[in-house]
Amino acid sequence: MLAIINETAAFLAAKMQYLPKIGIILGTGLGELATQITHRQEIPYEEIPHFPVSTVEGHSGKLIIGQLGNTKVLAMQGRFHYYEGYSMKQVTFPVRVMKALGVETLLVSNAAGGMNPDFKIGDLMIITDHINTFPEHPLRGANEPSLGVRFPDMSKAYTKALREKAKKIAANHGIRVVEGVYVGTSGPTFETPAEYTYFRTIGGDAVGMSTVPEVIVAVHAGMQVFAMSIITDLGIAGQVVEVSHEEVQQIANQAQPKMTLIMKELIENL
Ligand code: HPA
Repeated sequence: MLAIINETAAFLAAKMQYLPKIGIILGTGLGELATQITHRQEIPYEEIPHFPVSTVEGHSGKLIIGQLGNTKVLAMQGRFHYYEGYSMKQVTFPVRVMKALGVETLLVSNAAGGMNPDFKIGDLMIITDHINTFPEHPLRGANEPSLGVRFPDMSKAYTKALREKAKKIAANHGIRVVEGVYVGTSGPTFETPAEYTYFRTIGGDAVGMSTVPEVIVAVHAGMQVFAMSIITDLGIAGQVVEVSHEEVQQIANQAQPKMTLIMKELIENL
């Protein structure tokens, strides 16, 4: 595994004009941020050795290397979800490669369903912690000591200083943000009413199908992490309504400018 990571990193390092210390996984809600990256270089996933190949769409995404303000970033446009059929090693491979390239801070976004009764549709949630309910663990198997320890601490997975900075930025712009625990689940089904109640009962504020695997690997690798969800639908006990992928996309698009602004300012001031 180490040899493969290093091979991919060496391929990319040879192409890249510089090695950014900031990595971004442009999940739902951050498509717009991608368009604001200047001085950019793009590398399609298909050209990158050992990168997972797309299972469904014609092309699976690209790496974007460039600048947000004066800050150099390495962004993944398009992520790999467990529900698509990738193994956890594949889902998290790009994070390993980012680390090998020198990335120290990882920023992630996603869409999630809210279970906290104080949440509203379209809210932005700063993730304070997570609950991992995926059936496969990304660190299962032999541990490579040079990548991280066998039993990683998870008590401070989401870097407090970054959360505080993001809250200040949001307040300065009058943007409402909430904070909470993100439950990562495999999908691809949205939750049944009983499952929403269950995820609330175990301590979750929102639930989604990504992020947790990448964050676990980033923490294992010693990175700082900041993650934010757009609450695109609500699964609150007694008032669960139908949800569709289209609705999730639509709400995410509406909330996108707020998310973009916070992330951009956070990155420019890291
Ligand atoms: N559940 C899981 N994933 C999601 C949801 C949800 O309710 N909304 C957006 N992504």
